[in-house]
Order: sequence, then structure tokens, then C-alpha cells
Amino acid sequence: MHKVELYRDLAAQLKSLIAGEPDRIANAANMAALIYHGLPDLNWAGFYFANGEELVLGPFQGQPACVRIAWGNGVCGTAASRATTVLVPDVHEFPGHIACDPVSRSELVVPLIEDGKVSGVLDLDSPKLARFDADDQAGCEQLVRVFLRR
Ligand code: SME
Repeated sequence: MHKVELYRDLAAQLKSLIAGEPDRIANAANMAALIYHGLPDLNWAGFYFANGEELVLGPFQGQPACVRIAWGNGVCGTAASRATTVLVPDVHEFPGHIACDPVSRSELVVPLIEDGKVSGVLDLDSPKLARFDADDQAGCEQLVRVFLRR
């Protein structure tokens, strides 16, 4: 399946998974599972939610991960502080990358923006170099819009 179709399919599945369910943690947990099992070559998929000056680990699939990330730190904290998606083809080239799992080689982080504020991030990690491209960025941004019901 072409990537664009794959993301269209995942967005439709996510819509029906969260339909009528207001619980954010439950919906985030299902979304992490959907992404982790629906996209190839991932070793981690999940959320960090904003809490004061930090991001705190939310629902995810993959190896246990660092619980708290300071605003502005690592790829997740950078995406949160800039309020933009950050795509890192090679994490070894990203200063300040936080290596939760040494297997990770590339990363894509999409901020959750609600009422003009960053409420968290969606983080995807891959053991493959340059796993993520512009189609993945657009696809994951679309999934985040579905999650935030935009
Ligand atoms: N690598 C991330 C930390 C989170 S883990 O990848 C799950 C970062 O640099 O922000």
C-alpha cells in the first residue's frame, strides 16, 4: 500500500476507534497501538503530555522510556518549544537527542496544539536511518488532527 493510502486508512481507523469516547488516555493508548502495529519499522510510538515546564510520558508502545523531558530538551522538547513538527533523519546528528532506546536511529515528533498551546507531543522512533519523510510528517500530522478532533 502506498504511504498516502496507508495514512488515510489509519486516519479512518483512528476516527472510528475514538468516536464517542472522551477519555484522552484511552484514546491516546489506542492511537499508540494503532500506529505501532500499523506502520512498518518502528521501535516506539507514543505520547508525552505537557505538565508545567516538563513533558511527562503518556501511553506508548515499545520499550520503557524516560518519564520526564524538560521543555526544549531532546527532539520531543524541541518540537514542544517550537510548536512545530521535528523530523530527525539521524538522531546521532541531533544535538541533545535523548536516547531512551539505543536502537533508535531516526525520529518524528508532532506537537499537539490546542487553543494555541502545546499540550503534548506524538513521538515515533525507528531503528532505520531516515525512516521518516514528508509523507510520514503529513500523515502523522493528520492523525494528530483526528486525535484532537479537528
Ligand atoms: N528521543 C526522544 C526521547 C523520547 S524517546 O525516544 C521515547 C527525544 O530526544 O526527545
